[in-house]
Amino acid sequence: MSCAIFSSVASANDEQGKNLFLKAAVPACAICHTLEAAGAVGAVGPSMNDLQPDAARVMNAIKNGIGQMPAYPNLTPDQIKILSEYVASASRK
Ligand code: HEC
Repeated sequence: MSCAIFSSVASANDEQGKNLFLKAAVPACAICHTLEAAGAVGAVGPSMNDLQPDAARVMNAIKNGIGQMPAYPNLTPDQIKILSEYVASASRK
């Protein structure tokens, strides 16, 4: 039972992370990055499938920006955490 609850929370976070990556984060990560699991094919920045960043590295890029990539001051700490964990795991699929 607790396993079922845990996995439904995990997949809800997965859906939210994917939605943030594809459109809810503005500008969308998908405009610039490839992430196969999300169907994203952006080519401005590095492919997440090649990079396979851990969550801390994604979080740092989202919070501070890096190179041509903007920071995302409008995302909440929760959204940043969910998006970072999503990218870290989805990039390894
Ligand atoms: C306008 C294009 C653009 C958008 C939008 C964008 N990025 Fe980036 N991103 C880049 C570029 C370019 C780099 C490479 C920066 C460099 O190394 O100079 C990068 C680098 C990264 C890195 C690697 C950071 C590192 O430590 O090397 C991660 C992770 C990343 N982006 C995730 C994201 C996520 C998640 C989003 C959405 C919240 C996003 N990016 C939105 C262009 C973008």
